[in-house]
Amino acid sequence: MIGRLNHVAIAVPDLEAASEQYRTALGAKVGAPQDEPDHGVTVVFIELPNTKIELLYPLGENSPIQGFLDKNPSGGIHHVCYEVDDIIAARDHLQQTGARVLGTGEPKIGAHGKPVLFLHPKDFNGTLVELEQV
Ligand code: CO
Repeated sequence: MIGRLNHVAIAVPDLEAASEQYRTALGAKVGAPQDEPDHGVTVVFIELPNTKIELLYPLGENSPIQGFLDKNPSGGIHHVCYEVDDIIAARDHLQQTGARVLGTGEPKIGAHGKPVLFLHPKDFNGTLVELEQV
């Protein structure tokens, strides 16, 4: 059912420093910061030949990233995002297998302008999984 790895998201305590490290030390193609107020994050996308890295930094009060950074002050892998063709069919199938979908269960529009859902990390070996319809 799942397709390509769309991105790996990394929460970072210093967005400018992390961007510069990917640009300079790792020689990657690093985009400009984008504020995503609906998701409480500022995002920087890094294009790799086979996938993307998404650097996440808290935006505004009650950012979902802030708690993660409080527990992981030097940053860390926050989620992985897999592509699906039909997000509603994927959700229904996953719920039938007992997996929990976070929030209302209805897809939201994600950082790439496409519908996304998140699956409970306790159901996936401690990994927060994002599904994106492509
Ligand atoms: Co993501």
